[in-house]
Amino acid sequence: MTDDAADAHERRAVVASDGQALTAIAGTHVRRRLVDAIAARGACWIALAGGRTPKAVYERLAEAGTPAIDWARVHVAFGDERLVPPDHADSNYGMARAALLARVPIPAHQVHRIEGERLDADAAAAAYSAVLAGALRPEPGAWPVFDLVLLGVGADGHTASIFPGTAAVRETRRLAVAGDAPTAPERRVTLTFPVLNAARAVVILASGADKASAIARAFTDGTPVAECPVRGVRPASGMVTWLLDAAAAADLPTPAIE
Ligand code: 6PG
Repeated sequence: MTDDAADAHERRAVVASDGQALTAIAGTHVRRRLVDAIAARGACWIALAGGRTPKAVYERLAEAGTPAIDWARVHVAFGDERLVPPDHADSNYGMARAALLARVPIPAHQVHRIEGERLDADAAAAAYSAVLAGALRPEPGAWPVFDLVLLGVGADGHTASIFPGTAAVRETRRLAVAGDAPTAPERRVTLTFPVLNAARAVVILASGADKASAIARAFTDGTPVAECPVRGVRPASGMVTWLLDAAAAADLPTPAIE
């Protein structure tokens, strides 16, 4: 990912007045994406984000809503995972299972989690790459295509578990790699930019004043991807949709409050 390329892609920011409004907007947006993908292709694949922000959105998706989501046609994967067991408080899978997956009729074999319980992050990443390649069955030489990748962003500009200055920023060959976070749990597994950017749609969700600086840097042309990895999210489909609350958007030049 060159820095110029990171400047060139199309992006839009939808700014909600507060966290609650952001949850409502994000829930509606994700619901629509899932339903449209199922209508277009008979099934849909979503990669879920971890962390705290998306939990309320997952809880919203678990509720009955319109249009209804046919969970029997949904496949769920994860953008990244901490190297902890699935029932650990820090598990991204554990959070998504409690907030959403245990509350909707999605077939268990359609939930593809990263095996955070493995002791070796490289082995966990290689295993996950094989699971995704086998399940999504991309054309030879092509990347697996998710209908929707949902991402968060850290105060340091990381996304998934692609952290500033780490080798994961430069990964161009593998679907998933081991990563190192500056905060516990340090050992991670993350999808890589080629997979994130092969998605039909990418949504980046952020809430809170602590994200404002990273988001402003992400929107500033010329900011090196290595210093602000979320800038490396540049889907071939062209569009990144940032769903922000006003606090997270506070340092953007012209936030348009929704
Ligand atoms: C993780 C996430 C990570 C997260 C950001 C924001 O495993 O932590 O995938 O990329 O999206 O760190 O996290 P919060 O939503 O908790 O602020």
